[in-house]
Amino acid sequence: MRYLTLCIVLIISGLAVLAHGDEEHDEDETKAAAISDVAVPENPSYHAQVRPIIEASCISCHSVGQVAAYAPFENPDDVVWAADDIRFHVVNGIMPPWKPSRQNLPLKRDRSLSDTEIATIAAWADAGAPLGDPADYKPTPTDSFDFVEIRADLTLQLDQPYVPAEDALDDYRCFAFPLDIDAPQFITGYEFIPDVVEMAHHNILYLFDEEADGLIQRRNYADGRPGWSCYGGPGLSIGGEGIGGWAPGASPVLFPQGAGFLIRPGQQLVVEMHYNLWTVRQPDQSRIILQLESAESELAELMNISLAAPVEIPCPAGLEGPQCKRESAIERVAELYGEDARYTPDYLLYECGQSLADYANNSGEQAIGHCDFPVTRSITLYSVSGHMHELGRSFRMELNPDSDESALLLDIPRWDFHWQGEYFFEEPLRVARGDILHMTCTWDNTLSDEPRYVVWGEGTSDEMCFGSVLALKP
Ligand code: HEC
Repeated sequence: MRYLTLCIVLIISGLAVLAHGDEEHDEDETKAAAISDVAVPENPSYHAQVRPIIEASCISCHSVGQVAAYAPFENPDDVVWAADDIRFHVVNGIMPPWKPSRQNLPLKRDRSLSDTEIATIAAWADAGAPLGDPADYKPTPTDSFDFVEIRADLTLQLDQPYVPAEDALDDYRCFAFPLDIDAPQFITGYEFIPDVVEMAHHNILYLFDEEADGLIQRRNYADGRPGWSCYGGPGLSIGGEGIGGWAPGASPVLFPQGAGFLIRPGQQLVVEMHYNLWTVRQPDQSRIILQLESAESELAELMNISLAAPVEIPCPAGLEGPQCKRESAIERVAELYGEDARYTPDYLLYECGQSLADYANNSGEQAIGHCDFPVTRSITLYSVSGHMHELGRSFRMELNPDSDESALLLDIPRWDFHWQGEYFFEEPLRVARGDILHMTCTWDNTLSDEPRYVVWGEGTSDEMCFGSVLALKP
């Protein structure tokens, strides 16, 4: 019953946030076809076949105190009750949340279900979701994921809890944590420990140099509460270095052996936090723990290489007016985010060796942004992430497209703003001088409540085509 009530609450309150997701809930013909050929056990029951899958792949989020607590799957009756809904979500690849396609290079902690698991759940639901005999239950060998533990050498926590915005279903907030260290150190691992788990949607961590101090102080606590409102980036006019992030289900991050991010006294770690307030709104005092090594320990220094491509998204067909002009879009970002923002759209075209003519075919229904990034020296890549906002449809980072040596570093055919993260390659990827990284974003401006010409900007209704790869500093 609780499941039902909470689902209704979610449906009502979630409309605004999930409005863009409607399309995602269409049947995915290709996946549905794939499982019809898969052999499944005869007469699958909850206890014999389904329970082990649910426990291995769903319970970590679908249980009390976790992000999907409103739809708990700990109790067999709840799972049986939700069988058709579960079938729909797994057959269509919506759950478990794992956005990269099957063409992607192998990634660590791949959460997706196998065809056999999907087909088993479907067959069970089609057979009326029988419970079966509890004696048939055999637990799956615990998680094949390697267990990661982080030493808490430095713990960062707000000195007072943050109370999320009253009037929003989503609250985007940045918090700054001065790094209390007397000498340079390496961060070799980190863990984000959410306080109110149901509210923690995802976050991104940035390192800021001492020079950002004044900017941070001006914004921090300006509305009387810890941190400041931010979206799509910390919104300080100086850029920070992204070092990682967190999303539900993420494990602690241990950087590649022998490597770390160098931090210096005076720097601050800024957490860009997305709170999701559909089910609870409580004071939050989440923590971040950092595992450190002395800078004298001769570790290799990690860096994130940031990649950005042009954003030129016209209005959908049939819509006209000043809001559909590129000039007014540029005027708008300059007003909102400062004069530098005015030059970003043209600068991105220039950096990518493109001109507006390259985007003449962009329409409001389907706009593309893309850029080639030539690799200038051999390096090893460990992870990749992509970032767009809510008009995003797909994201792709490719190595040497259209060649015999092509590889899909990150292929997200159905972009979902709510499930973005950093993906570590199963095997570090060596790229050589002369290779090309190619990043492509696509958008659909009809997803906007108030479509207008959209260019690069930090706000909810602006867009980005941003990617980053983790590598050793040469
Ligand atoms: C990493 C966390 C996570 C994992 C793992 C996960 N889910 Fe979910 N699930 C969510 C969240 C959060 C939602 C709410 C909608 C959203 O944010 O996409 C959700 C929503 C759902 C819903 C929709 C409930 C409703 O409102 O009708 C179903 C059904 C579902 N999940 C089934 C599953 C199944 C089955 C699995 C395992 C095979 C699974 N989920 C694994 C986080 C997770």
